Amino acid sequence: MKAIQYDHSIRPYTTFKVDARSAQYVSVDSLSSLKEALQYRPNGAIRILGGGSNMLWRKNYPGRTIHINLKGIEKVAETDTQVSVKVQAGENWHEFVLWALKNDLGGIENLALIPGSVGAAPIQNIGAYGVELKEVMEECTFLQKDTLTERVLSVADCQLNYRDSIFKNELKGKGVVTSVQFRLAKSPHPLHTSYGALENQLQGRPRTIQSVAEAVIRIRQNKLPDPKQIGNCGSFFKNPILSLSRFEALQKKHPQLPSYPSKTGVKVPAAWLIDQLGFKGVRRGDAGVHPKQALVLVNHGNATGAEIWALAEDIQKAVHAQFGIALEPEVTCY
Ligand code: EPU
Repeated sequence: MKAIQYDHSIRPYTTFKVDARSAQYVSVDSLSSLKEALQYRPNGAIRILGGGSNMLWRKNYPGRTIHINLKGIEKVAETDTQVSVKVQAGENWHEFVLWALKNDLGGIENLALIPGSVGAAPIQNIGAYGVELKEVMEECTFLQKDTLTERVLSVADCQLNYRDSIFKNELKGKGVVTSVQFRLAKSPHPLHTSYGALENQLQGRPRTIQSVAEAVIRIRQNKLPDPKQIGNCGSFFKNPILSLSRFEALQKKHPQLPSYPSKTGVKVPAAWLIDQLGFKGVRRGDAGVHPKQALVLVNHGNATGAEIWALAEDIQKAVHAQFGIALEPEVTCY
Protein backbone atom coordinates (compact mmCIF):
# COMPACT_ATOMS: atom_id res chain seq x y z
CA MET A 1 0.00 0.00 0.00
CA LYS A 2 1.35 3.44 -0.93
CA ALA A 3 1.59 6.11 1.75
CA ILE A 4 -1.70 7.39 3.10
CA GLN A 5 -2.31 11.07 2.34
CA TYR A 6 -4.26 13.08 4.87
CA ASP A 7 -6.84 15.83 4.20
CA HIS A 8 -6.27 15.25 0.51
CA SER A 9 -8.11 16.97 -2.38
CA ILE A 10 -9.77 14.60 -4.81
CA ARG A 11 -10.08 17.30 -7.48
CA PRO A 12 -7.32 15.86 -9.72
CA TYR A 13 -8.94 12.39 -9.79
CA THR A 14 -12.52 13.36 -10.60
CA THR A 15 -13.80 14.70 -13.91
CA PHE A 16 -16.17 17.24 -12.31
CA LYS A 17 -13.04 18.91 -10.94
CA VAL A 18 -14.69 20.12 -7.75
CA ASP A 19 -12.44 20.74 -4.81
CA ALA A 20 -13.46 18.40 -2.01
CA ARG A 21 -11.21 16.73 0.51
CA SER A 22 -10.97 13.22 1.88
CA ALA A 23 -9.69 12.77 5.45
CA GLN A 24 -7.55 9.93 4.07
CA TYR A 25 -6.60 9.02 0.52
CA VAL A 26 -4.64 6.00 -0.67
CA SER A 27 -3.89 4.66 -4.14
CA VAL A 28 -3.64 0.86 -4.51
CA ASP A 29 -2.03 -1.02 -7.39
CA SER A 30 -2.23 -4.63 -6.15
CA LEU A 31 -4.83 -6.89 -4.63
CA SER A 32 -2.81 -7.21 -1.42
CA SER A 33 -2.55 -3.43 -1.00
CA LEU A 34 -6.28 -3.11 -1.67
CA LYS A 35 -6.99 -5.67 1.06
CA GLU A 36 -4.71 -3.78 3.42
CA ALA A 37 -6.41 -0.47 2.59
CA LEU A 38 -9.86 -1.95 3.20
CA GLN A 39 -8.87 -2.77 6.78
CA TYR A 40 -9.72 0.67 8.03
CA ARG A 41 -11.57 0.47 11.23
CA PRO A 42 -12.29 3.69 13.09
CA ASN A 43 -15.76 3.77 11.56
CA GLY A 44 -15.25 1.71 8.41
CA ALA A 45 -16.10 4.70 6.21
CA ILE A 46 -14.55 3.84 2.86
CA ARG A 47 -15.18 5.40 -0.51
CA ILE A 48 -13.98 3.71 -3.69
CA LEU A 49 -12.60 5.88 -6.46
CA GLY A 50 -12.12 4.56 -9.99
CA GLY A 51 -11.90 6.95 -12.93
CA GLY A 52 -13.85 9.56 -10.95
CA SER A 53 -16.08 10.25 -13.94
CA ASN A 54 -19.45 9.50 -12.39
CA MET A 55 -19.32 11.14 -8.97
CA LEU A 56 -20.10 14.52 -7.50
CA TRP A 57 -18.67 15.33 -4.07
CA ARG A 58 -20.94 17.84 -2.37
CA LYS A 59 -18.84 18.02 0.78
CA ASN A 60 -15.62 16.83 2.34
CA TYR A 61 -15.45 13.16 3.35
CA PRO A 62 -14.39 12.16 6.84
CA GLY A 63 -13.35 8.60 5.88
CA ARG A 64 -10.76 6.88 3.65
CA THR A 65 -10.85 7.11 -0.13
CA ILE A 66 -9.26 4.18 -1.93
CA HIS A 67 -8.17 4.89 -5.50
CA ILE A 68 -8.18 1.69 -7.55
CA ASN A 69 -5.12 1.48 -9.80
CA LEU A 70 -4.98 -2.27 -10.50
CA LYS A 71 -3.63 -2.72 -14.05
CA GLY A 72 -3.44 -5.48 -16.65
CA ILE A 73 -5.19 -6.84 -19.75
CA GLU A 74 -4.96 -10.58 -20.39
CA LYS A 75 -6.44 -12.96 -22.96
CA VAL A 76 -7.76 -15.92 -20.95
CA ALA A 77 -9.60 -18.08 -23.52
CA GLU A 78 -10.09 -18.25 -27.26
CA THR A 79 -12.35 -19.98 -29.80
CA ASP A 80 -12.50 -19.61 -33.61
CA THR A 81 -14.79 -16.60 -33.28
CA GLN A 82 -14.22 -15.10 -29.84
CA VAL A 83 -11.61 -14.15 -27.28
CA SER A 84 -12.21 -13.79 -23.54
CA VAL A 85 -10.23 -10.93 -22.07
CA LYS A 86 -9.78 -10.23 -18.37
CA VAL A 87 -9.12 -6.60 -17.52
CA GLN A 88 -8.08 -5.22 -14.14
CA ALA A 89 -10.39 -2.63 -12.64
CA GLY A 90 -7.95 0.30 -12.75
CA GLU A 91 -7.43 0.20 -16.51
CA ASN A 92 -8.83 3.23 -18.29
CA TRP A 93 -11.96 2.26 -20.24
CA HIS A 94 -11.09 4.07 -23.47
CA GLU A 95 -7.51 2.71 -23.41
CA PHE A 96 -9.06 -0.75 -23.27
CA VAL A 97 -11.29 0.06 -26.26
CA LEU A 98 -8.14 1.14 -28.15
CA TRP A 99 -6.40 -2.10 -27.12
CA ALA A 100 -9.34 -4.12 -28.51
CA LEU A 101 -9.26 -2.18 -31.80
CA LYS A 102 -5.50 -2.71 -32.10
CA ASN A 103 -6.02 -6.44 -31.57
CA ASP A 104 -8.88 -6.45 -34.11
CA LEU A 105 -11.39 -7.52 -31.46
CA GLY A 106 -14.96 -6.24 -31.71
CA GLY A 107 -17.84 -5.56 -29.34
CA ILE A 108 -16.89 -2.37 -27.50
CA GLU A 109 -16.23 0.03 -30.40
CA ASN A 110 -19.59 1.80 -29.80
CA LEU A 111 -18.42 2.49 -26.25
CA ALA A 112 -15.32 4.44 -27.35
CA LEU A 113 -14.37 7.57 -25.41
CA ILE A 114 -16.57 6.89 -22.38
CA PRO A 115 -14.57 8.36 -19.50
CA GLY A 116 -13.88 6.20 -16.47
CA SER A 117 -12.25 2.96 -15.43
CA VAL A 118 -13.01 -0.63 -16.38
CA GLY A 119 -13.99 -1.49 -12.80
CA ALA A 120 -16.72 1.15 -12.80
CA ALA A 121 -18.20 -0.02 -16.10
CA PRO A 122 -20.46 -2.76 -14.65
CA ILE A 123 -21.60 -0.59 -11.76
CA GLN A 124 -23.78 1.51 -14.02
CA ASN A 125 -23.77 -0.84 -17.02
CA ILE A 126 -22.24 1.78 -19.30
CA GLY A 127 -23.97 2.14 -22.63
CA ALA A 128 -23.92 4.35 -25.70
CA TYR A 129 -24.91 4.34 -29.36
CA GLY A 130 -26.94 1.14 -29.20
CA VAL A 131 -24.61 -1.06 -27.12
CA GLU A 132 -24.57 -1.77 -23.39
CA LEU A 133 -21.81 -3.38 -21.38
CA LYS A 134 -24.06 -6.33 -20.50
CA GLU A 135 -23.87 -7.51 -24.13
CA VAL A 136 -20.10 -8.08 -24.00
CA MET A 137 -19.39 -8.81 -20.36
CA GLU A 138 -18.89 -12.41 -19.16
CA GLU A 139 -18.17 -12.00 -15.47
CA CYS A 140 -16.34 -9.92 -12.91
CA THR A 141 -14.50 -10.42 -9.65
CA PHE A 142 -15.69 -8.63 -6.54
CA LEU A 143 -13.57 -8.31 -3.40
CA GLN A 144 -15.86 -8.41 -0.39
CA LYS A 145 -15.09 -5.82 2.23
CA ASP A 146 -16.10 -7.92 5.26
CA THR A 147 -14.31 -11.20 4.44
CA LEU A 148 -11.59 -9.83 2.11
CA THR A 149 -12.29 -12.75 -0.23
CA GLU A 150 -12.98 -12.52 -3.94
CA ARG A 151 -16.22 -13.68 -5.44
CA VAL A 152 -16.86 -14.26 -9.14
CA LEU A 153 -20.15 -12.84 -10.41
CA SER A 154 -21.50 -13.90 -13.79
CA VAL A 155 -23.04 -11.22 -15.96
CA ALA A 156 -26.48 -12.54 -14.91
CA ASP A 157 -25.51 -12.27 -11.22
CA CYS A 158 -24.66 -8.59 -11.78
CA GLN A 159 -28.32 -7.79 -12.65
CA LEU A 160 -27.31 -5.24 -15.26
CA ASN A 161 -30.12 -2.95 -16.38
CA TYR A 162 -30.30 0.57 -17.77
CA ARG A 163 -27.59 2.42 -15.74
CA ASP A 164 -28.16 -0.02 -12.90
CA SER A 165 -26.68 -3.18 -11.34
CA ILE A 166 -26.43 -5.24 -8.16
CA PHE A 167 -23.54 -2.95 -7.16
CA LYS A 168 -25.95 -0.02 -6.83
CA ASN A 169 -28.37 -2.13 -4.82
CA GLU A 170 -27.71 -5.32 -2.81
CA LEU A 171 -23.89 -5.01 -2.99
CA LYS A 172 -23.74 -1.25 -2.52
CA GLY A 173 -20.85 -0.41 -0.20
CA LYS A 174 -20.04 -4.11 0.28
CA GLY A 175 -16.80 -4.29 -1.68
CA VAL A 176 -14.86 -3.51 -4.83
CA VAL A 177 -15.00 -4.76 -8.43
CA THR A 178 -11.39 -5.82 -9.03
CA SER A 179 -11.53 -7.13 -12.62
CA VAL A 180 -14.00 -7.57 -15.46
CA GLN A 181 -13.97 -10.28 -18.12
CA PHE A 182 -15.28 -9.59 -21.62
CA ARG A 183 -16.18 -11.74 -24.61
CA LEU A 184 -14.86 -9.95 -27.69
CA ALA A 185 -15.45 -11.00 -31.30
CA LYS A 186 -12.82 -11.89 -33.89
CA SER A 187 -13.25 -10.80 -37.50
CA PRO A 188 -15.76 -10.84 -39.23
CA HIS A 189 -17.19 -8.58 -36.54
CA PRO A 190 -20.91 -8.15 -35.98
CA LEU A 191 -21.53 -4.36 -36.03
CA HIS A 192 -24.22 -2.28 -34.32
CA THR A 193 -24.85 0.81 -36.41
CA SER A 194 -28.59 1.36 -36.22
CA TYR A 195 -28.40 4.33 -33.78
CA GLY A 196 -29.47 7.34 -35.89
CA ALA A 197 -26.50 9.64 -35.33
CA LEU A 198 -24.08 6.76 -35.89
CA GLU A 199 -25.74 5.68 -39.11
CA ASN A 200 -25.45 9.27 -40.39
CA GLN A 201 -21.77 9.45 -39.56
CA LEU A 202 -21.08 6.19 -41.38
CA GLN A 203 -22.80 7.14 -44.66
CA GLY A 204 -20.40 6.53 -47.52
CA ARG A 205 -17.66 5.11 -45.29
CA PRO A 206 -16.40 1.55 -44.88
CA ARG A 207 -17.98 -0.28 -41.96
CA THR A 208 -15.39 -1.75 -39.65
CA ILE A 209 -14.93 -1.73 -35.88
CA GLN A 210 -12.33 0.99 -36.43
CA SER A 211 -14.67 3.22 -38.47
CA VAL A 212 -17.51 2.72 -35.96
CA ALA A 213 -15.21 3.76 -33.11
CA GLU A 214 -14.04 6.78 -35.10
CA ALA A 215 -17.65 7.79 -35.81
CA VAL A 216 -18.59 7.46 -32.13
CA ILE A 217 -15.56 9.54 -31.16
CA ARG A 218 -16.55 12.25 -33.65
CA ILE A 219 -20.15 12.35 -32.33
CA ARG A 220 -19.03 12.49 -28.72
CA GLN A 221 -16.37 15.15 -29.38
CA ASN A 222 -18.92 17.23 -31.20
CA LYS A 223 -21.50 17.45 -28.45
CA LEU A 224 -20.01 16.30 -25.17
CA PRO A 225 -17.50 18.49 -23.33
CA ASP A 226 -14.02 17.01 -22.89
CA PRO A 227 -13.52 16.59 -19.13
CA LYS A 228 -9.87 17.58 -19.61
CA GLN A 229 -11.05 21.01 -20.69
CA ILE A 230 -14.26 21.51 -18.74
CA GLY A 231 -15.33 19.60 -15.64
CA ASN A 232 -18.32 17.29 -16.17
CA CYS A 233 -19.58 13.74 -15.63
CA GLY A 234 -21.42 13.13 -18.91
CA SER A 235 -25.17 12.73 -18.52
CA PHE A 236 -26.10 14.00 -15.08
CA PHE A 237 -29.57 12.41 -14.99
CA LYS A 238 -30.94 9.10 -16.23
CA ASN A 239 -33.44 9.12 -19.06
CA PRO A 240 -36.78 8.48 -17.33
CA ILE A 241 -38.81 5.42 -18.26
CA LEU A 242 -42.58 6.00 -18.26
CA SER A 243 -45.47 3.59 -18.41
CA LEU A 244 -47.22 3.58 -21.78
CA SER A 245 -50.30 5.30 -20.37
CA ARG A 246 -48.29 8.08 -18.69
CA PHE A 247 -46.29 8.56 -21.86
CA GLU A 248 -49.41 8.82 -24.01
CA ALA A 249 -50.96 11.38 -21.67
CA LEU A 250 -47.78 13.46 -21.76
CA GLN A 251 -47.45 13.16 -25.51
CA LYS A 252 -50.93 14.61 -25.92
CA LYS A 253 -49.77 17.76 -24.15
CA HIS A 254 -46.35 17.77 -25.84
CA PRO A 255 -46.70 16.24 -29.30
CA GLN A 256 -42.98 16.83 -30.09
CA LEU A 257 -41.81 14.69 -27.15
CA PRO A 258 -39.26 12.17 -28.52
CA SER A 259 -39.31 8.59 -27.20
CA TYR A 260 -37.55 5.24 -27.46
CA PRO A 261 -39.00 1.83 -26.70
CA SER A 262 -37.64 0.18 -23.57
CA LYS A 263 -38.22 -3.22 -21.99
CA THR A 264 -40.09 -1.72 -19.05
CA GLY A 265 -41.99 1.14 -20.71
CA VAL A 266 -41.19 4.17 -22.85
CA LYS A 267 -37.89 6.01 -22.42
CA VAL A 268 -37.95 9.75 -22.96
CA PRO A 269 -34.80 11.87 -23.29
CA ALA A 270 -34.20 13.90 -20.14
CA ALA A 271 -32.14 16.24 -22.36
CA TRP A 272 -35.30 17.17 -24.26
CA LEU A 273 -37.27 17.92 -21.09
CA ILE A 274 -34.46 20.09 -19.71
CA ASP A 275 -33.94 21.81 -23.05
CA GLN A 276 -37.64 22.72 -23.29
CA LEU A 277 -37.35 24.57 -20.00
CA GLY A 278 -34.55 26.76 -21.32
CA PHE A 279 -31.74 25.42 -19.15
CA LYS A 280 -29.37 24.66 -22.02
CA GLY A 281 -26.28 26.85 -21.74
CA VAL A 282 -27.32 28.50 -18.45
CA ARG A 283 -24.55 29.47 -16.12
CA ARG A 284 -24.69 30.27 -12.41
CA GLY A 285 -21.26 31.28 -11.28
CA ASP A 286 -19.10 28.41 -12.46
CA ALA A 287 -21.89 25.80 -12.41
CA GLY A 288 -23.70 25.40 -15.70
CA VAL A 289 -25.50 23.34 -18.30
CA HIS A 290 -23.53 22.48 -21.43
CA PRO A 291 -24.65 24.60 -24.42
CA LYS A 292 -24.68 21.58 -26.77
CA GLN A 293 -26.24 18.91 -24.53
CA ALA A 294 -28.82 19.84 -21.92
CA LEU A 295 -28.24 16.64 -19.93
CA VAL A 296 -24.65 17.50 -19.12
CA LEU A 297 -23.90 19.73 -16.14
CA VAL A 298 -20.52 21.41 -16.22
CA ASN A 299 -18.02 23.07 -13.93
CA HIS A 300 -16.61 26.10 -15.71
CA GLY A 301 -13.76 26.33 -13.23
CA ASN A 302 -14.26 26.70 -9.53
CA ALA A 303 -17.84 25.56 -8.88
CA THR A 304 -18.30 23.62 -5.67
CA GLY A 305 -20.16 20.31 -5.57
CA ALA A 306 -22.92 22.06 -3.60
CA GLU A 307 -23.31 24.71 -6.33
CA ILE A 308 -23.58 22.09 -9.08
CA TRP A 309 -26.05 20.18 -6.95
CA ALA A 310 -28.17 23.32 -6.38
CA LEU A 311 -28.47 23.74 -10.15
CA ALA A 312 -29.34 20.04 -10.53
CA GLU A 313 -32.09 20.43 -7.91
CA ASP A 314 -33.54 23.44 -9.71
CA ILE A 315 -33.64 21.41 -12.93
CA GLN A 316 -35.36 18.54 -11.10
CA LYS A 317 -37.95 20.90 -9.63
CA ALA A 318 -38.66 22.61 -12.95
CA VAL A 319 -38.99 19.30 -14.83
CA HIS A 320 -41.29 17.98 -12.14
CA ALA A 321 -43.47 21.09 -12.19
CA GLN A 322 -43.78 21.13 -15.97
CA PHE A 323 -43.89 17.43 -16.88
CA GLY A 324 -44.65 15.64 -13.60
CA ILE A 325 -41.46 13.58 -13.98
CA ALA A 326 -38.93 13.03 -11.18
CA LEU A 327 -35.48 13.01 -12.78
CA GLU A 328 -33.04 10.69 -11.05
CA PRO A 329 -29.33 11.52 -11.02
CA GLU A 330 -27.18 9.14 -12.99
CA VAL A 331 -24.09 10.49 -11.30
CA THR A 332 -23.44 9.28 -7.74
CA CYS A 333 -23.84 12.34 -5.52
CA TYR A 334 -22.10 12.04 -2.17
N1 EPU B 1 -32.02 16.40 -26.94
C1 EPU B 1 -32.53 17.67 -26.74
N2 EPU B 1 -31.67 18.65 -26.31
C2 EPU B 1 -30.35 18.42 -26.09
C3 EPU B 1 -29.83 17.14 -26.33
C4 EPU B 1 -30.67 16.14 -26.74
O1 EPU B 1 -33.71 17.91 -26.94
O2 EPU B 1 -29.66 19.37 -25.66
C5 EPU B 1 -32.94 15.31 -27.33
C6 EPU B 1 -32.94 15.01 -28.80
O3 EPU B 1 -34.26 14.68 -29.15
C7 EPU B 1 -32.07 13.77 -28.90
C8 EPU B 1 -32.38 13.06 -27.60
O4 EPU B 1 -32.57 14.12 -26.66
O5 EPU B 1 -32.42 12.99 -30.00
C9 EPU B 1 -31.32 12.11 -27.14
O6 EPU B 1 -30.07 12.79 -27.06
P1 EPU B 1 -28.69 11.99 -27.21
O7 EPU B 1 -28.67 11.14 -28.42
O8 EPU B 1 -27.59 13.00 -27.04
O9 EPU B 1 -28.68 10.97 -26.01
P2 EPU B 1 -29.07 11.10 -24.46
O10 EPU B 1 -30.33 10.37 -24.24
O11 EPU B 1 -29.01 12.52 -23.99
C10 EPU B 1 -27.85 8.89 -23.81
C11 EPU B 1 -26.89 8.46 -22.74
C12 EPU B 1 -25.47 8.91 -23.09
C13 EPU B 1 -25.07 8.26 -24.40
C14 EPU B 1 -26.08 8.68 -25.47
C15 EPU B 1 -25.83 7.97 -26.80
C16 EPU B 1 -28.18 8.40 -20.68
C17 EPU B 1 -28.47 9.05 -19.39
N3 EPU B 1 -27.30 9.01 -21.47
O12 EPU B 1 -27.86 10.31 -23.79
O13 EPU B 1 -24.60 8.44 -22.08
O14 EPU B 1 -23.76 8.66 -24.79
O15 EPU B 1 -27.42 8.35 -25.06
O16 EPU B 1 -26.16 6.60 -26.68
O17 EPU B 1 -28.72 7.33 -20.97
C18 EPU B 1 -23.65 9.09 -19.99
O18 EPU B 1 -24.32 8.19 -19.47
O19 EPU B 1 -22.90 9.83 -19.30
C19 EPU B 1 -23.78 9.34 -21.42
C20 EPU B 1 -23.14 10.36 -22.01
